[in-house]
Amino acid sequence: MALNSQRSKRLPPVRRGTIYDLYLTLSDDRLLEYDIDRLVFEARSPYQKVQIVHSKSLGNLLVLDELQNISEADLVYTETLMQRGKESYTGKEIVILGGGDGGLLWELLKEKPKSVTMLEIDDVVIKACSQYMRSICGDCLDKRKGDNYEIIVEDCAKTLAHMIEEGRQFDYVFGDLTDIPISPTPHGDAWDFIRLILNSSMKVLKSTGKYMTHGNGASCPQSLEMYEQVLSQLCVPVTFTKDSAFVPSFYEDWVFYQVSLK
Ligand SMILES: C[S@@+](CC[C@H](N)C(=O)[O-])C[C@H]1O[C@@H](n2cnc3c(N)ncnc32)[C@H](O)[C@@H]1O
Repeated sequence: MALNSQRSKRLPPVRRGTIYDLYLTLSDDRLLEYDIDRLVFEARSPYQKVQIVHSKSLGNLLVLDELQNISEADLVYTETLMQRGKESYTGKEIVILGGGDGGLLWELLKEKPKSVTMLEIDDVVIKACSQYMRSICGDCLDKRKGDNYEIIVEDCAKTLAHMIEEGRQFDYVFGDLTDIPISPTPHGDAWDFIRLILNSSMKVLKSTGKYMTHGNGASCPQSLEMYEQVLSQLCVPVTFTKDSAFVPSFYEDWVFYQVSLK
């Protein structure tokens, strides 16, 4: 018999009736109760439900379609995604797919890149984060163009297709899309769209370039395996390395990929 099997526990019932949802899930669907005490922003954009809630321990937290995206306590997410200290961005040409919270754009700009082009589909996310997530995005979302960056509000699949036609080439492409990216045009399933984004990204990378992205929670090994299988079947052969970090607002280790052309 397990040592604690006779211990009696009284669990509080799931709390309902708040105007914000206190319950989000881990990547393997286990339920988490957050210490959310305030709804800061809420709107339904043409693409998704956009919420910023305040958590006592995490600060403001961006939630898209009931999935936690980034909080004010998640600098480690961005630093692991960009492999800060291991990659050099000075003088480099960079594309960000998604990234509407502005956290990655803000941190990359600190490293003096030649240019960063951010392709984000949802203007509502940009505006909400520019107002309520300033500790992670600074003032970089206040305007659409800076000295060395541009924010294009469009489906990244469409913009990538144009970039391929024009023969554009970049040192880094960042996949900072929602876990299930938004496809405004019909594609078989989410994996088809992820494959399309990956294949398109490989076509705009310089031969020395890298595709950097977030994978999934370490508690979801099957999904990580599927992602790695997709990587092994792209239009060009690639190699990849992985890193992971505990992301405070996800309450779990998250796996990040760095993909290079072979
Ligand atoms: C907020 S970022 C951060 C991702 C993140 N940390 C997470 O947990 O998934 C994700 C962004 O990807 C954007 N996005 C999703 N599909 C897109 C598409 N097809 N083109 C451009 N942006 C897209 C979403 O609007 C969202 O703002």
